[in-house]
Amino acid sequence: MLLQNKVAVIYGGGGSIGSAAARVFAREGARLFLAGRTMSRLEEAAAAARAEGAEVSTAVVDASDPAAVERHADQVAEAAGRIDITLNAVGFDHVQGLSIAETSVDDYLHPIDGYLRTNFLTAKAAARHMVAQRAGVILTISTPGARLTGRGLIGNAAQSAGLEGFSRALAGELGPDGIRVVCVRPHAISDALATSYANAMFGRIADASGIGMDEWIQGLTGATALGRLPMLAEVGEYLAFAASDRASSMTGAIANLTAGALVD
Ligand SMILES: NC(=O)c1ccc[n+]([C@@H]2O[C@H](COP(=O)([O-])OP(=O)(O)OC[C@H]3O[C@@H](n4cnc5c(N)ncnc54)[C@H](OP(=O)(O)O)[C@@H]3O)[C@@H](O)[C@H]2O)c1
Repeated sequence: MLLQNKVAVIYGGGGSIGSAAARVFAREGARLFLAGRTMSRLEEAAAAARAEGAEVSTAVVDASDPAAVERHADQVAEAAGRIDITLNAVGFDHVQGLSIAETSVDDYLHPIDGYLRTNFLTAKAAARHMVAQRAGVILTISTPGARLTGRGLIGNAAQSAGLEGFSRALAGELGPDGIRVVCVRPHAISDALATSYANAMFGRIADASGIGMDEWIQGLTGATALGRLPMLAEVGEYLAFAASDRASSMTGAIANLTAGALVD
C-alpha cells in the first residue's frame, strides 16, 4: 500500500476533496486525523475512511485560528508519534464572476486572506514537527485561476497564484530538511458540485452570465482537452501518490489536474 503506517492530517476533512482524499489515503494504509468546522461532515468522512480499514480521529478545528491549529498538530503528534502528511483541503464560498468595478476590496481580499492564511497556518504547524523528524509532505490545492485570464477572476486568480507561489517557496525552504511540498491544481470537479461550496458560487456566475448552470458547466467541459472535467477520485488518487514515497523526488511541483483546460 502507498501510505502504509503514514500519519496524515486533512484539514477540511469533511469537504468534497478532503473526504475523497481521506478514502484513498485510508485504502492505502494511512492513519488519519480529519479536522474541520462541522463535526457531522467530519464523522461522515471518517465513517467512509474507516470502512476502508483505517484508524480515523476527528476534531473541530478552525484552520484560520493559529492557536487552534498549533494545538491540534501537537495533539496529533502526541497521539500518533509523528506527522507524515498534511493536506489543506479547506474551501469556502467567495466572490467570482464580477468585474473589478463591481467587486469591493473586502470581497477581493476574502479568498486571498482565507486561503493564504489557513494554508500558512496548517503548513507552519506541520512543518514544526516535520523539521524535527527530517521528513514529511505538505499538500496544497490551488485552482486554474492561477493561470487564467479574464473578467471575474481577480480574487480567485490572486489567491490561487499566491498559493502556488507559497508552495514553491516553501518547497525550497523545507527541502533541506527532507520535507516535500506539492500543490495540485484541479479544474472544477464534476462530482463535487453536489457537496462543494463551489456549487453556489458557480451558480451565481452562471446566473450573471445569463445562462443556466448546465450550460455554464458544458462551456468549461468543452474547453478541456479530454472533453470532461476531473473527478474527485482522480484528485484523491493523485494526492495519495504525491504524498507517498513513490513520489520521493517530487517537490515544488504544481500538478496540473485540469483535464487539459490548461496545458503546461
Ligand atoms: N470543488 C472544486 O471543483 C475545486 C476545484 C479546484 C480546486 N478546489 C479547491 O479545493 C479546496 C477544497 O474545495 P472543496 O470543493 O472540497 O470544498 P468543500 O466541499 O466546500 O469543502 C471544504 C471544507 O472546508 C471546511 N472549512 C471551511 N473553512 C474552514 C476553516 N476555517 N477551518 C476548517 N475547515 C474549514 C468546510 O467546512 P464545513 O463542512 O463546515 O463547510 C468544508 O468541510 C479549495 O481550496 C478549493 O479552492 C476545488
